[in-house]
Amino acid sequence: MNIEVKSGGGNRLDDLRPKALVTGCAGFIGSTLTDRLLADGFEVIGIDRFSDYYNRELKEQNLAAAMQHPRFTLIEEDIVEMDVFPAVDYVFHLAAQAGVRASWGRSFDIYTRDNIQAIQRLLDFFATDTEASYRLKRFVYSSSSSVYGDIELPMREDRMVQPVSPYGVSKLAAEHLCYLYWKNYHVPTVSLRYFTVYGPRQRPDMGINKFVRAILAGEPVTIYGDGTQTRDFTYIDDAVEANVAAALCDTNNSNVCGETFNIGGGNRISVIDLIHAIEDATGRSAILNHVGEQKGDVQDTWADAGKAERGFGWSAKVRILEGLKRYVAWIDGGD
Ligand code: UGA
Repeated sequence: MNIEVKSGGGNRLDDLRPKALVTGCAGFIGSTLTDRLLADGFEVIGIDRFSDYYNRELKEQNLAAAMQHPRFTLIEEDIVEMDVFPAVDYVFHLAAQAGVRASWGRSFDIYTRDNIQAIQRLLDFFATDTEASYRLKRFVYSSSSSVYGDIELPMREDRMVQPVSPYGVSKLAAEHLCYLYWKNYHVPTVSLRYFTVYGPRQRPDMGINKFVRAILAGEPVTIYGDGTQTRDFTYIDDAVEANVAAALCDTNNSNVCGETFNIGGGNRISVIDLIHAIEDATGRSAILNHVGEQKGDVQDTWADAGKAERGFGWSAKVRILEGLKRYVAWIDGGD
């Protein structure tokens, strides 16, 4: 299937609608956010370059509903190659080269391009283009808990950050760009540090997706290290809600702009316990295959999410057992 650029109709009512730009709109979180914004009445312009990190077909499936929607426009482009972006009320910047463990060696070139250069292009445009900067109410950047590294728990935004993966460094650099464009140009940025998001459409390289599919297929589950590492898993709907809340909260709130916020599910669990929970949710037993620890993986993550609650009233709603149940049902339903 070849996705064509198409645009929604233009009447006066459309001019009054809130307009959002979603970068990485074909990805796991970007496509779910796009669907949510369309359902909420936004006009959405999506940008995605359909990078080859994983199968294009999966991304096209993610976008299938949006492509049928009259208020959605897709721009298939590489942000780094773009000079002009649409003037919108809200930017949600999710486009990125993902993957903590794949960011070593020459691959880092892709991480610097997609995770640092791309956001700099966007921020600079929204800082200097008169019409676009005037219209913009909020620029929400999708950051990552990987900026912290192996620090004292729970992870709090005012603690030292010391990433242990090149990927984490690239996400942290982008947070700094968000801050400095707020400080110098008043681009109203907010950085959200997601803690291992899971749920329908999760990327194929991520743990829960791989574990559930392997267990359902009766195939071995690959565990990095001894499986005692923990993650504060966050359900997709909670991550999407955080984006909406961070965008729509009071624009003049200087406690929000230029700031970073943990978006963690309050579901800290070890990989081994997670696998047992998936066994319960699927009614199948896992065959375990332990391999070595992966460079770049942190041992533990655990968010103190109090700042997001105080800043824009966000807290996680979906507990891990409920989230797993929903995810297994989605996979069982044939994706
Ligand atoms: C995830 C995302 O991939 C990053 O893009 C994101 O920035 C990061 O969360 C974050 O929230 O900061 P990660 O926590 O490594 O990174 O997520 P998974 O790939 O789902 O791994 C979760 C856990 O399962 C890790 O401890 C990992 O070591 C383990 N794992 C993963 C395995 O044991 N085996 C696998 O095959 C995959």
